Amino acid sequence: MEVRRRRRLIAIVVVGLMLGGVGTWRYLFQIDGPGYRPKSAGGGFLVAPYVQLGDEPRFGTTESLTILWQAEDRATEWSVEARDAPGGAWRAGGKATWRTDTRPGVGPRRYYRATVAELAPGAEFTYRVRRNGKALFESTARARKGPGQPHRFVAFGDGGANSWGQMGIAYRTALARPDFVMVAGDLVYSKGRLFEYLDKFFPIYNSDQFAPGAGAPLLRSTPMLVAPGNHDLLERNLDSYPDALAYFLVWSMPLNGPLSQVGASHTPALFGTKAQQQAFVDLAGPAYPRMANYAFDYGDAHWTILDTNLYADWNDPKLRDWLEADLAAAQDAPWRFVAFHQPPFHSSISHGDEQQTRILAEILEKYRVDIVFSGHIHNYQRSHPLRFVPERDASGRPIEKLGRVNGRWTLDTRFDGKSRTRPDGVIYLVTGAGGARLYDANQHGDDSSFQEFTARFVSNTHSLTVVDVDATKLTVRQVTADGEEVDRFVITR
Ligand SMILES: [Fe+2]
Repeated sequence: MEVRRRRRLIAIVVVGLMLGGVGTWRYLFQIDGPGYRPKSAGGGFLVAPYVQLGDEPRFGTTESLTILWQAEDRATEWSVEARDAPGGAWRAGGKATWRTDTRPGVGPRRYYRATVAELAPGAEFTYRVRRNGKALFESTARARKGPGQPHRFVAFGDGGANSWGQMGIAYRTALARPDFVMVAGDLVYSKGRLFEYLDKFFPIYNSDQFAPGAGAPLLRSTPMLVAPGNHDLLERNLDSYPDALAYFLVWSMPLNGPLSQVGASHTPALFGTKAQQQAFVDLAGPAYPRMANYAFDYGDAHWTILDTNLYADWNDPKLRDWLEADLAAAQDAPWRFVAFHQPPFHSSISHGDEQQTRILAEILEKYRVDIVFSGHIHNYQRSHPLRFVPERDASGRPIEKLGRVNGRWTLDTRFDGKSRTRPDGVIYLVTGAGGARLYDANQHGDDSSFQEFTARFVSNTHSLTVVDVDATKLTVRQVTADGEEVDRFVITR
């Protein structure tokens, strides 16, 4: 009997792996060697067009969005056109420019971009991408909203695992119709390689299909802004993986971070031959290493995005001064949000010893940050509004040792997000349930396993954070891929 049951179990696993196809095998056994080449996006593109905020951190009287796509390395004339109203006249977008990637094993391919400018803040528009005069691709998108224009964003982290969870969250994100999406790191597993983006990122978040088991045509209409996670920037051996560090090639976000010099401390240093390193630096242009940290405004909120991977020491005054200056300049914004991958306060047993980002807490409190969004931990957690005083060394700096920062916290347990909506302290959200394998399902409902700062803990389902923002009120909801609301709180001014 016992043998028969075991055989049946083995048969079920084998059939499951066969039905799951190549993707399942690759996921389970991490088969992603340099020789692996995924299919093209079709329609003449290696990567279909998607929209980005580009290097525009501040509001303008008019707004712009950047359209990016990848195509073969051919002498082809690409152009972008836009129109502001359906049926209106098309106007020329900015010139399409490109960088050519000829690196063995990655190229040949071209990374194209073109900017659509002169957009009214918050206005919907249609754009189309033409090749040799023929329109190949068309989508609508929305210009960034300005102060006084209510907006909605979705946040999640740890998505790009090619899983049902990721597809369901992509679908649910599109259903929420956000103005933009913030991804709190670990964009694509497991090495942040371009081929991983082509295999399990773009086909899901910019899918031609709109279905829970496929994904959604999200990126073509909705800017995604991202924070770098460990899986995005830790594989840096360009000899072993010449397509690593794709973060700096596929995203176009503001270039206003504190670190612009190649080789500077606190940046993700390159490994591999000098030639490979130089080829990458040339291709990435000013994005590397600067785009690992940045800040931008959207609607009534200011955002600051930090690279909190271990090579970045946020105890260094150079980094702290930049963060303080950025937040100090944003004190007139109704809301301040910060996103970085590794959460300072969480109750998971997984990664329990990683809490080095607590050294940032005092700065976040001093400049009245409202919510910090993190991932890394693959579940959802909300803290009580919190203030933290770390233990310090003789020079006054917070002491961080092997990932631990000891100190004392004060909690605002009166805040309930319903009738008491004015928090005293920073609310820390872990929203890392975006698609990768969930962490600590056994802690779900086990309050005794939580730290006292944890107000809500959901580890039995994938989920995303939906935030509605206007000048005086934030409504934050945590929603599962099926649309079930598992948390809700309101903050008012
Ligand atoms: Fe992570």
